[in-house]
Amino acid sequence: MTNEFSKSKKMYDEAKEYIAGGISSQIRINDPAKIPMFFSHAKGSKMWDVDGNEYIDYIQGMGPNLFGHAPDFISDLVKKEMDRGYVLAGQFDKEIEIAKMALELIPIKNATARFAISGTEIDQLLFRVMRGYTKKNKIVKFEGHYHGWMDSVNYSVHPPLNLAGDENNPNPIPESTGMDLNTSKNLIICEWNDEEKIENVFNKYGDDIAGVITEPILGNTNCILPKKGYLEKVKILCEKHNALLAFDEVITGFRVAAGGAQELLKITPHIATYAKSMAGGFPMSMIVGEKQIMEEIGNGNVYHGGSFNSNVMSTAATYATLKYLHDSKATFYENLNKKGEFMMKNLKSVSKSQDSDLHVQGVGSLLSISFTNKEEITNWRDHAKNCDEKKYSLFAYEMLKNGIRLSSNGRMHISSAHSQEDLEKTISSTEKVLSKI
Ligand SMILES: Cc1ncc(COP(=O)(O)O)c(C=O)c1O
Repeated sequence: MTNEFSKSKKMYDEAKEYIAGGISSQIRINDPAKIPMFFSHAKGSKMWDVDGNEYIDYIQGMGPNLFGHAPDFISDLVKKEMDRGYVLAGQFDKEIEIAKMALELIPIKNATARFAISGTEIDQLLFRVMRGYTKKNKIVKFEGHYHGWMDSVNYSVHPPLNLAGDENNPNPIPESTGMDLNTSKNLIICEWNDEEKIENVFNKYGDDIAGVITEPILGNTNCILPKKGYLEKVKILCEKHNALLAFDEVITGFRVAAGGAQELLKITPHIATYAKSMAGGFPMSMIVGEKQIMEEIGNGNVYHGGSFNSNVMSTAATYATLKYLHDSKATFYENLNKKGEFMMKNLKSVSKSQDSDLHVQGVGSLLSISFTNKEEITNWRDHAKNCDEKKYSLFAYEMLKNGIRLSSNGRMHISSAHSQEDLEKTISSTEKVLSKI
């Protein structure tokens, strides 16, 4: 690296004059570069910043770039289709095709879909339909899970342990000022991956619970897999109490398998949400649920709108993505997962050879790096007590200086565009950085 982000620094200073905080999404303030970086372009596994530095990118848009940045087959179809108009405020023929393909890939059976733009808003629709269908109000949300930045759910994503309260009855900790704290009255915060705790919640509030929302694999904290039987237990409790089990597959959908975490873990919820990978980098989100539940939206009782929903570009990008996955899913996921497994195995062995506490866990192309001496991290409190976030920030900064771009929260997204050479360079850079920190 020839210079240290000097143009990025200059542009950030200028941006702060015109854009609040100089950024458009809060997480970017935590960039491993210690300032939000400015990029000139990105393609495949690589990105180039305005200072001319090249990086192998593992943020990949925080997940959407399943095929790497700007894959030609998506760009080509989007360019072609956008000649037919951008925002039609009407239905578009390819919508039917993407719904058909998505429903074929997703394990929930006898289902229908609806489309929106972001993961945040599709989760809002999810809460509305869960409440509308069950005629009950309370939603169970787990610590360490993220379901978008809206008032109704932006609690206890990363609650400080000194505020989080008793693990048997956690406090809802707002992630922002300015939130309507009345919304917490209908949210029950629970520790994840612990059957007894969710059972207690149902024993206490069962009659009022509309549903439980969970990331089926906890991408927002250490990429944690659910303990054996845990999600099955949650589903049994939901069904016993006439509540719905919802999977937020915004990260896992179309990434960990064509049918997402449901396919991998062999458990189907009643309803699920998707975004990120489903459109290979374009803004698109989707809710899929059993027909009788989705009929609450279908008959208009649950209101759902949006000027940009199923716009031509996002629909075309989704079509290209799902068609590709549909036609090549067996080999595509096998190859992608092999890359992830190679990375995980080698990061573990480099950590051992360097006598480091670098820790990696995850599944397939979705991994998380942290620094801990524990063998496994199983939920948010476990992470908060045992992972050294400062050390991770230092590691990510040093990796950036070696041309490897990691996210501020440790989550790595490997894309089909990452080459063997990229993976090997990442592993050798890790070795080099670990020997220094
Ligand atoms: C599991 C999960 N749900 C919802 C969201 C919100 O999605 P978006 O950023 O598209 O609003 C995210 C974003 O990272 C997420 O990780």
